[in-house]
Amino acid sequence: MSTDSGERKQITIRTFLQKKREHKPITMMTAYDYPTALCVDQSGIDSILVGDSLGMVVLGYETTLPVTMEDMLHHCKAVARGANRALLIGDMPFLSYQASVAEAVHNAGRFLQEAGMDAIKLEGGRERLEAVRAIVQAGIPVIGHLGLTPQSVHAMGGFRTQGKSAATALRIYEDALLLQEAGCFSIVLESIPSQLAERISNDLDIPTIGIGAGPGCDGQVLVVHDMLGLFDRFKPRFVKQFANLHPAILEALKIYLQEVEERAFPTPEHYTAMKEKEWKDFLSILEENKNE
Ligand code: KIV
Repeated sequence: MSTDSGERKQITIRTFLQKKREHKPITMMTAYDYPTALCVDQSGIDSILVGDSLGMVVLGYETTLPVTMEDMLHHCKAVARGANRALLIGDMPFLSYQASVAEAVHNAGRFLQEAGMDAIKLEGGRERLEAVRAIVQAGIPVIGHLGLTPQSVHAMGGFRTQGKSAATALRIYEDALLLQEAGCFSIVLESIPSQLAERISNDLDIPTIGIGAGPGCDGQVLVVHDMLGLFDRFKPRFVKQFANLHPAILEALKIYLQEVEERAFPTPEHYTAMKEKEWKDFLSILEENKNE
């Protein structure tokens, strides 16, 4: 968002609501480290999600389930150091909010108190309302997450599109209304049919952020490693690669390997040489010391 002077200003949850009212798309991207956060922030994207997807794209796990609070806080802190404009959202990892409401509030608070986040995200619908209400009452903005919720990968029988039947679509629709009522300022809709996402977006006052949910959402989010072509273990259908950095990085590494092996790197512009006189003095001191 720009001010009248063209200067960019800090994005808040009010910006999300304002953009929805003005029918302006909300932009969100994941980031997990300082340099990526710098880039996303500088690009003008509204919001950075430090997603628990970091378990898969950064830490190399098969699912997001092994990700801990400590993993999340570590990466959130790095992102917070790199971004000063975008709204920062920390993703609550598996088991950090399911066991009890008190634990959910405490862990949600750690994202703001220790890691510099502005809001938190958690997965689930009607079964999470009590936790959402309590976190919101503690003054912590919450973004919900419905549809394909990766922390329930085993319950869903794999990473698959949700809400394809009338009955499952209705459950997601009702959950979206319930999350709004509980106080969420926004909801991520992941991998659900586009008509369902559009209908939910039209019927809610709060904005929806889609990933694999079509163009009818109020905003879009992607996993940065997917959209930059850095993660090639698998590519969900809904990912568009805006760059293909894996081959570019591989090529650079191969050239480095070759240049080091052939002693073509480093060259004089990459190192410092001592002035001739200082070097001669150094050698004479060495010689003198040896003869003592
Ligand atoms: O963890 C994550 O990156 C997410 C996005 C896919 C929405 O939840």
